[in-house]
Amino acid sequence: MSDATGRLPRLRNAHSHMWILGVVGIAVGAAMMILLPQLKVASTSVLLFAGFHVLGAIVLLSSAWAVGLRRWARRLAPARPAKGYDFGWGSGWMNGLAIAALVALTAAVAIEIQWRTLWPLAFCAVALAVLCLTGAQIMRGFQRADQVVLPMVDLLRGEGSRVLDAGCGSGRTTIALGRVLGAGRIVAVDRFDAGYIEDGGRALLERNLNLAGLSEKVTIATADLTELPFPAGDFDAAVSTHVYDHLGAAKAKGLQEIWRVLKPGGRFLMGVWTPGWSMFAVANLFSLLLTSKTAWRRMAQQAGFTIADEGQFNHVWFVLLEKPSPAPPPASPA
Ligand SMILES: C[S@@+](CC[C@H](N)C(=O)[O-])C[C@H]1O[C@@H](n2cnc3c(N)ncnc32)[C@H](O)[C@@H]1O
Repeated sequence: MSDATGRLPRLRNAHSHMWILGVVGIAVGAAMMILLPQLKVASTSVLLFAGFHVLGAIVLLSSAWAVGLRRWARRLAPARPAKGYDFGWGSGWMNGLAIAALVALTAAVAIEIQWRTLWPLAFCAVALAVLCLTGAQIMRGFQRADQVVLPMVDLLRGEGSRVLDAGCGSGRTTIALGRVLGAGRIVAVDRFDAGYIEDGGRALLERNLNLAGLSEKVTIATADLTELPFPAGDFDAAVSTHVYDHLGAAKAKGLQEIWRVLKPGGRFLMGVWTPGWSMFAVANLFSLLLTSKTAWRRMAQQAGFTIADEGQFNHVWFVLLEKPSPAPPPASPA
């Protein structure tokens, strides 16, 4: 719900728990090492766990820092000439991963020079650096304009569809959809308050739609996906990428809302991150916290959807969900 100023309440930043776990983990691990030296394996595991959390926290902090720096630089610089799409996200995380890789490589070199017998640790640090660099490359891919695509699935039924882009952000999905929509119309909805997209994405969305020649075709609305301001059965179809995995405990509610606003027979194309090797490269152990495909399928079915199709594109798992049409009434006897 929006407040009196028309702005939605800000989402809480959930990253501070990483610092807490990191610091507590280091304290507990170090105490165990000193006080209980016989439990070396346990204390090393605790320290490793803490290390991963500190690394994750550094990645997120540098992400926030990079976004802030960029905003500050933009304020200083004169308005840039419009030069291609700008989706305004990804670089922070990408830079964070590159920094983490650099730290891990430096640690590996230091270990090799100072403590040669600890070479397995240096080996692990190099492996971590390679993983982080792979993750940075994957994130770089998400930023590229040639990734403004959606999987080619049977989403739109007939001409003139009214389609919802749920969590449009700065418009990547909206543009991909607009390219194939023909006579249809798009309603692009977002809270526009994500800290990792420049100014929440609204200005970038307007600019990108303008560049794509889609401004006339798209209506922009500020709303929360768990409380959509549309009547039931308002849309023929819906799309959403990189959004529902951000909804935390409200995922099921978000799916129920999409089900509500779709017409019977309407389809929803959803793309989300799920645990897998590429997400492990991007988010390391945190990727294991991502919702699994099985859990997504179960949630979608509980919301009332049937699954029409699924697959993988650009490191994203997609699923095409359908709100079933009511069964036709039995034919009356002649
Ligand atoms: C990673 S961006 C993805 C944007 C776009 N779909 C894309 O693929 O480029 C996630 C977007 O979801 C939006 N979002 C997250 N939770 C939301 C909620 N509860 N209601 C509306 N938008 C939300 C954020 O504001 C952000 O713009």
